[in-house]
Amino acid sequence: MAEMTLSEMAVDVLTTADGFEKTKKSRDYAAQWFAAREAGTPLSIGRADAPLRPSRPAKPELLDPRDVPKRKPGSPQGRIALLHAVAHIELNAVDLHWDIIPRFAHIEMPLGFYDDWVKSADEESKHFNLICDCLKELDSFYGALPAHAGMWRAAEDTVDDFMGRLAVVPMVLEARGLDVTPGMIDLFRKAKADRAVASLETIYAEEVGHVAYGSKWFHFLCGRHNLDPKEQFHTLVRKYFHGALKPPFNEEKRAEAGLPPDFYWPLADQHPPRTR
Ligand SMILES: [Fe+2]
Ligand SMILES: [Fe+2]
Repeated sequence: MAEMTLSEMAVDVLTTADGFEKTKKSRDYAAQWFAAREAGTPLSIGRADAPLRPSRPAKPELLDPRDVPKRKPGSPQGRIALLHAVAHIELNAVDLHWDIIPRFAHIEMPLGFYDDWVKSADEESKHFNLICDCLKELDSFYGALPAHAGMWRAAEDTVDDFMGRLAVVPMVLEARGLDVTPGMIDLFRKAKADRAVASLETIYAEEVGHVAYGSKWFHFLCGRHNLDPKEQFHTLVRKYFHGALKPPFNEEKRAEAGLPPDFYWPLADQHPPRTR
């Protein structure tokens, strides 16, 4: 059998509906990619048609965010709902990171670009499984509750805009994860939910890398096209992201990920805190 290209692997993940099967394929393909890289015989990127929307399991039911029932965050049911929402985000992230590969394969990029997104997709797959283990410990599972529809909107909006995709997905959506995860970790720590705390700490540490990859390749493309990165970022986020960015921002982790304050504060619905 001829060797699969990386784009074909990506499309196979995207068209697999079941979460565990999707993340297993994702991790297997990532291992194949990195084994070939180490051997000095990288897989070819190739071309394959990415579906407009990835395949997803029949459950969870996808609802408009306004119709997803709110539960008290301090209650056991609230913690299950929170973990369920995180699992949904992680599964979406698996698809987002694989999607960028075949979607923009016509644009020549260094191999390091593919290393970064394959590694991110592998980590998101691990995150999904970690959170599913937490749900299982609480006698629940991914699919037990409804989840937000519209998570894939950022991908559809930027289906033909490579820089727009990088601006909105890693540099806005994943950066938002850095802002909210410490509060979630606190909440589970107070509930003495050790497995959830450990899982969220892993996620928090690895998500800094995903935002950093976004910033790195966004700046790379700005350099290639002789564009001012900050201005370009503002233009693209205003074009593709619906609404203002929400402070408080995790300025320290954002800085670690290569996102300076003058990138995100001008897009916020508040002014930055005065500095002297
Ligand atoms: Fe993740
Ligand atoms: Fe991520």
